[in-house]
Amino acid sequence: MRRSVLIAAAMMFVVPAAAEGDAEKGKASFAKCAACHEIGPGAANKIGPELNGIVGRKPAAIDGFAYSKAMQEFGAANPAWTEELLATYLEAPMKVVKGTKMAFAGLKKPEERENIIAYLKSNPQ
Ligand code: HEC
Repeated sequence: MRRSVLIAAAMMFVVPAAAEGDAEKGKASFAKCAACHEIGPGAANKIGPELNGIVGRKPAAIDGFAYSKAMQEFGAANPAWTEELLATYLEAPMKVVKGTKMAFAGLKKPEERENIIAYLKSNPQ
């Protein structure tokens, strides 16, 4: 009896954690971004800006990167890339920021977006 209560309590902790993305899987999916973006120690701008600390970073905030006008306006309207905003953007970048020069169709699977965001989060500024 007592054991089943403990197991039930343990499962309550497991469930929310499972809803979080898997950073390891996200690292593998980041291959889709790596043609244009660098992340991690020493990351530099390429076709797209470096993405260290992007979760919580202001959109269009990297000095020396030539953002589109559309992304600069998006940055003026949104103080930070929250996880929710990133998830929306990554589903359909060219729809969410109309006129962006990020030529990427988007990630259709919610799970893949969550995994990539978990990976992005694991790379602080
Ligand atoms: C074909 C090249 C390309 C690919 C592939 C690409 N991006 Fe981008 N990304 C860009 C460019 C260019 C910009 C700048 C957009 C602008 O200024 O309109 C950008 C901007 C961004 C931004 C906003 C950065 C900021 O400083 O505000 C994020 C976040 C982002 N990309 C994430 C991703 C992720 C995650 C992936 C993979 C799922 C990805 N991108 C795939 C080219 C790309």
